[in-house]
Amino acid sequence: MTRTSVEMPLRSLVAHLQIRATGCARRYVLGIAGPPGAGKSTLSKSIRNELNNRAGRMCAEIAPMDGFHLPNAVLRTTNDLERKGEPHTFDVAAYLDALRRLRDTPIGEPVPWPTFDRAIEEPTPAGVVFDRHEIAITEGNYLLLDEGAWSGVRDLLDEVWYLDVEREVIEQRLLRRHIRGGRSADAAKIKVHDSDLPNADLIAGTRDRADLVLRQRGGRYYAAEG
Ligand SMILES: Nc1ncnc2c1ncn2[C@@H]1O[C@H](COP(=O)(O)OP(=O)(O)OP(=O)(O)O)[C@@H](O)[C@H]1O
Ligand SMILES: [Mg+2]
Repeated sequence: MTRTSVEMPLRSLVAHLQIRATGCARRYVLGIAGPPGAGKSTLSKSIRNELNNRAGRMCAEIAPMDGFHLPNAVLRTTNDLERKGEPHTFDVAAYLDALRRLRDTPIGEPVPWPTFDRAIEEPTPAGVVFDRHEIAITEGNYLLLDEGAWSGVRDLLDEVWYLDVEREVIEQRLLRRHIRGGRSADAAKIKVHDSDLPNADLIAGTRDRADLVLRQRGGRYYAAEG
């Protein structure tokens, strides 16, 4: 586990990001990677909101990797429903295509992006549409995975942050989430131990490929040192 030291206030993370994005001729793409339940979606929303507040306009939007979950009907045919969330249960080729469109489409032209509806555990096509947004924040588990088609993701991102969190914190968060989602306590435990935590271990092995490793503690973020 990494040691934490310097606090990285959201304001300063965003100020530096804004400077790098301003120097980019096309839409700038920030990746936020990390294990399930690390707080990637929460951090992405905070960053987006802070960017938009500072700019006084909608200059940033989130492009979730979760929008590329294969639909349940497809996972059922391959007996993969209980393994949902593992690398092979996403449409990686579609994610790569969408990232290329997001980067290369001139700002002002629409780029639809699928989101993920946790209530029904299914993607929503064109859940969000990019147009004038100059910064896209793509967040998800496998952005830094160097395996198969996933290894093509890193080159499409301008910078990647890895959000780290203790394994016990992840475990408790995910157990709570699965129970809230309708699983029994036993079924939640099985899902966490047989699928989520092995995924988290796989993802932990990708941390060194990040430009910045952040740890969250008590509502604040810290830069992690090796
Ligand atoms: N900075 C924070 N302080 C306290 N709790 C947090 C923080 N960030 C996230 N959490 C909590 O952790 C849980 C998981 O957060 P979130 O959904 O953002 O994680 P995630 O990394 O996007 O998960 P997943 O990979 O499953 O989509 C939520 O219950 C959220 O409230
Ligand atoms: Mg999330």
